[in-house]
Amino acid sequence: MIKPNKLWPIVGHGRHRDVYRLPSGNVIKFPRGTAGEVANIWEAIVWRFRYHRDNLPEFIRRCMDDEAQYARCRLVPRTNILVMEFVRFEHINGLPHWAQGMDGGQAGINSAGNIVAYDYADFCDDDLELAQVAIESARYCLKQRYL
Ligand SMILES: Nc1ncnc2c1ncn2[C@@H]1O[C@H](COP(=O)(O)OP(=O)(O)O)[C@@H](O)[C@H]1O
Ligand SMILES: [Mg+2]
Repeated sequence: MIKPNKLWPIVGHGRHRDVYRLPSGNVIKFPRGTAGEVANIWEAIVWRFRYHRDNLPEFIRRCMDDEAQYARCRLVPRTNILVMEFVRFEHINGLPHWAQGMDGGQAGINSAGNIVAYDYADFCDDDLELAQVAIESARYCLKQRYL
């Protein structure tokens, strides 16, 4: 089981995930509880389907803005732990409309200079079971065990 390393600086504690900076420069998101695990899998799926958004399960698709851009990420194989590109927070003049809607502007700038969302598992706690069904069906569509 992977655990946070004491040498990794903490980047943030969210509602469902603890996030650390890896030596590679990426961040690693450790889930706290089921909602955090679902959020990690959700983001990995959204990234995998980024060019095929209309193939996503309806429940996930409905939560997304057509214009939104997402931080690159993937699950650590055989875990629900997510590795994601680092996103810098800085004041952005003319933050695009989709980013303002991102749960209070949870978007920043990646190393390529693009504005991307970093917390885009956009389901509310009451919908956790629906979100679980959605991610399972997306995983089935991908026809592989791990994303
Ligand atoms: N890709 C990232 N780059 C830089 N900081 C991040 C990134 N993802 C998350 N963080 C930091 O970690 C905090 C918690 O992560 P977040 O994805 O918002 O988790 P939660 O779903 O629990 O709210 C964020 O508020 C932010 O400060
Ligand atoms: Mg958050």
